[in-house]
Amino acid sequence: MRRIGVLTSGGDAPGMNAAIRTVVRIAADRGVATSGVYRGYQGLMDGDIRPLDIRDVGGFITRGGTLLGSARAAGFRTPEGRQIALDQMQAHGLDGLIVIGGNGSQSGALAMHELGVPTIGVASTIDNDLAEVDTSIGVDTALNTALEMVDRLRDTASSHHRAFVVEVMGRKSGYLALMTGLSSGAELILTPEEPVTMEEAIQSLHAAYKANKSHFIVIAAEGSELRAIDLAAELDKSNEYEARLSVLGHVQRGGPPLAFDRLLATRSAAAAVDAIVNGKSGLMAGLVRGRIDLVPSELAIKPVVKVPRDLCRLAEILAM
Ligand code: F6P
Repeated sequence: MRRIGVLTSGGDAPGMNAAIRTVVRIAADRGVATSGVYRGYQGLMDGDIRPLDIRDVGGFITRGGTLLGSARAAGFRTPEGRQIALDQMQAHGLDGLIVIGGNGSQSGALAMHELGVPTIGVASTIDNDLAEVDTSIGVDTALNTALEMVDRLRDTASSHHRAFVVEVMGRKSGYLALMTGLSSGAELILTPEEPVTMEEAIQSLHAAYKANKSHFIVIAAEGSELRAIDLAAELDKSNEYEARLSVLGHVQRGGPPLAFDRLLATRSAAAAVDAIVNGKSGLMAGLVRGRIDLVPSELAIKPVVKVPRDLCRLAEILAM
């Protein structure tokens, strides 16, 4: 293996740059050159590929987002698109590919592997919706960002005796919502995995009022059945608390990665490079039961539930 490509794809996540830096430098240490593929699979199809030197990635470890850029490339999902990507890899002398990203990105990595390209993934998504791994690069930083925002909202909620429905990201996963809710001491948490009805939510508001709470904070996953916007409107009709909606949105994806994500990115990406250099393919690197390991990509992209019922129950009890 003489040269590998590295790309980031799908939603950016804090820590992706630390992973890119590691790929370039560990590959160099193993005698392999790296090219950066810009704008994910779209850039792979467009041939937006340039050599990355060990000095080019200086300072990457501290930076949020992805300095290679990212895209959601619909064209890559077609056999024609993948053939174009394959041709571009050959034209740029790439013998293998490291894919840093979440579920959709790892499906693309598996497709390249099935086309015969040595491909290794690195688990990275704030949604924590990859199977087989405990967590992914970006989850911890996104969670801490959401937590800080909720702590701030709680101050103003208490001052005004208000209810706040705070929508957090996660696509179809309620993991970020559950962990934000548990760590902020929210009164109610809505996730797609453990649905709550409008009636139950209103009961919970009444209970908070009866318990003399100065605020009522709901953390709602963006994928939950009961939509944050509808709940906020309904809660506002009560005479107990005025209600406001706050959608945290993409703020959760930005910002410098915290230590946990820098370390996870560094260790996972190093394992990914060693795997590809040693002839492995069709695997994804990540944290598996507390250790850095490789898992089959086809298992990593399977649907998974990371919202344990007992933790939802714990949050419910603590909201007394
Ligand atoms: O997958 C990461 C994520 O931030 C999800 O939580 C969210 O649903 C989605 O990406 C938003 O996508 P976009 O950045 O394309 O709006």
